[in-house]
Amino acid sequence: MLFFVFLSISCWMLYTAVANMTDVQHLVACLIAISYKHFTPGSNIALSLPKRVQDNNNPHATLALNSTINNPEDSLPLELQRMAVWPITVFRHCDESPADSFDGKRQESHKSYIIVVYSEEEDDVTEDVAEQLQFLSYSASWNPRARFVVTAVIKAQLYDSQETAKNLLQEISLWKIFDVVVIVKASATHNTEKIKNDIQNFQINTWFPYQAPDRCSNVHEVTLLESWLMEGKGRLSKNTNLFPNKIKYDLNGCTITAATFPVDIAVGPYRYVDKNDSTATPSVTYESGTEVRLIKSVAEKLNLTLRFLPPPSKNEKWGDLAEDGTFTGLLGDVVYGRADVGFAVWPLHPKLLVIMDATKSYLGDDWVWWVPCAKKVPRWKSISMVFLPSTWSALLVSVIFAVVIIPCMVTREPSELKIYRNCGNSVSTVWATFLGVSIPRMPKTVPVRTFLISWIWYCLAINTIFQTFLISFLIEPGLQHQMNSLQEILASEKKYGYNEWFDMVVRDTEDEFSETILRNRVACNEGNEPPCLDWVAHHDNFSLLCSRALLQYILTREYLDKNGKPLICQAGGLFFPVNYVTYMAKWNPLLNRFNDIITRLLESGISDKWIESGLYLQRVHARTSSRRVGVGEYYDISLEHSQGIFAILLPGTILSVMVFFLEVFYHMFSLK
Ligand SMILES: *[C@@H]1O[C@H](CO)[C@@H](O)[C@H](O)[C@H]1NC(C)=O
Ligand SMILES: *[C@@H]1O[C@H](CO)[C@@H](O)[C@H](O)[C@H]1NC(C)=O
Ligand SMILES: *[C@@H]1O[C@H](CO)[C@@H](O)[C@H](O)[C@H]1NC(C)=O
Ligand SMILES: *[C@@H]1O[C@H](CO)[C@@H](O)[C@H](O)[C@H]1NC(C)=O
Ligand SMILES: *[C@@H]1O[C@H](CO)[C@@H](O)[C@H](O)[C@H]1NC(C)=O
Repeated sequence: MLFFVFLSISCWMLYTAVANMTDVQHLVACLIAISYKHFTPGSNIALSLPKRVQDNNNPHATLALNSTINNPEDSLPLELQRMAVWPITVFRHCDESPADSFDGKRQESHKSYIIVVYSEEEDDVTEDVAEQLQFLSYSASWNPRARFVVTAVIKAQLYDSQETAKNLLQEISLWKIFDVVVIVKASATHNTEKIKNDIQNFQINTWFPYQAPDRCSNVHEVTLLESWLMEGKGRLSKNTNLFPNKIKYDLNGCTITAATFPVDIAVGPYRYVDKNDSTATPSVTYESGTEVRLIKSVAEKLNLTLRFLPPPSKNEKWGDLAEDGTFTGLLGDVVYGRADVGFAVWPLHPKLLVIMDATKSYLGDDWVWWVPCAKKVPRWKSISMVFLPSTWSALLVSVIFAVVIIPCMVTREPSELKIYRNCGNSVSTVWATFLGVSIPRMPKTVPVRTFLISWIWYCLAINTIFQTFLISFLIEPGLQHQMNSLQEILASEKKYGYNEWFDMVVRDTEDEFSETILRNRVACNEGNEPPCLDWVAHHDNFSLLCSRALLQYILTREYLDKNGKPLICQAGGLFFPVNYVTYMAKWNPLLNRFNDIITRLLESGISDKWIESGLYLQRVHARTSSRRVGVGEYYDISLEHSQGIFAILLPGTILSVMVFFLEVFYHMFSLK
């Protein structure tokens, strides 16, 4: 309702200004009508005006600047301002250095643009619009996904309005602007409608992309959507929607080019498509991988033909900004427009969003540190582990004490047996008691007996505890210490590393150690090159920063011990989270459609199912290749289990054999 009131007021004001409106007034009225209908109230309108003509000797120039009411440059901002519905930013291209116009601060991006192009001849309009778009694009609030209204004011009387509109649209499409209408006054020579109705009009034209496999993003055909009839106050003839959604769900088999390279689970191996034509750019296909499946199904739903570029040369992978200021790898493919989309478990990163667009994230992942799993304590060592060193030494002290105290007591008891007076006998008595073996003769006197009985009780208690623990340790010797935090990893002096592409993510983490990590890390690339995983699993001399999803996937089939337990364990919590996305060339018009389809795929849960089934297949393969994986924990007594027992038994046996022979020899020689 309010809208009509405003519209009628505006028309009334225009009407009362002069009874018969000039072309320019009609144009302004038309633009205002379009703005009312299609621009969100309150959103900023960017109004771009042509360069001021500075040449005063040019008669046309003065004509254009003659009176405010006769040129759209001045009357349009005035009229729009008078509506007080939209804030307006006026851009006027001038010859000053464009760098000065960059506003630096990140502003809200514009939702709608009105561009007024003025020229003498029809041929100059495209040049002018290109200049203005160039100028607008330097602004931080530049947004080609906004709605654009471009009006061409041509002074010449004879021109082809359809051709002009097409040229303009062609130029505009190069800027990836698709939501655009071009207003050109129907020229006297090419206006069939005028002949019919005898009314002059402005034609409002647009074009539709993705109409056929060979009509994708090139302007092929201009569609006349609407006309502004210049009778009375002027009116729109049909009241159609000037900004229909041009990117449909059926893109008619248009080609989309993807750049990727094989990475673990996400992208499988590739092969070259046999091409007859050696001149055509080589193309490859990928058949497996979760991400490939995802992108393929998005392309299929949108009826796009998916073509893959060969993987980046020279092992550039995701690529980076090279020394010479060019982008390499996938980054270069997408930024320079060789590919429309790029993916390969590519994490979302704010810096990349400046030069590319990213789809919705379809996989969240945590990056954590991985260390060698704790190894079992060797069984022979388990005996020493029953008591702490301090307890062992306390026991030793008590034995020495007992050995010393018995002869001391016996010297004060003359009636005591002779064997207790001997120091050597005292040692063997105490030791025999300690081991729970009987002694040859009981002492006779009460004090020695009392001492000995308390020593026996003490030894019984110690023995019981020792044997209980010994048995449990012999069965399950327990685990050695495992590193469990980043601090420990850094302090361990063992090497650590990760994929070097993640340097920039590590640099951004707020971790106090990130500087140290960056300085000392070893580069571990995809495909386990160098074999960082083997170092962690088999040599215990490495720690790895890696994606949890990837390592869990790898651990379904590799780096397992013979009981199917992983050899690589997670240390500490989340180091940084990562979201994987597909990057698209900046301002690619398909972004929203891709997001729609990805959202639906995520909501349906099919991508989870793909990952699950991938993992399941892995486990099945692993199980068939190794009998013992997945059987769970079980024990059968092996030689290794008796290792501990023999570790005690053998030295004892050897010792006793030696003592036996010593005694035999001693007696043989002493008898002679
Ligand atoms: C408006 O234009 C018509 C013809 O185009 C003319 O007959 C009429 O006199 C004009 N009115 C005014 C007020 O200029
Ligand atoms: C403005 O245009 C009128 C005719 O429309 C003309 O008489 C006048 O000289 C022009 N003014 C200037 C400053 O050129
Ligand atoms: C995909 O596009 C082609 C080419 O326009 C068309 O023939 C075909 O019917 C479309 N497929 C679907 C499923 O719409
Ligand atoms: C090239 O393509 C044509 C048909 O497209 C086919 O008949 C021919 O065998 C191909 N040649 C080679 C070398 O593949
Ligand atoms: C880890 O140990 C293996 C085998 O001893 C060795 O080849 C490798 O270089 C070591 N790794 C590091 C990072 O020192």
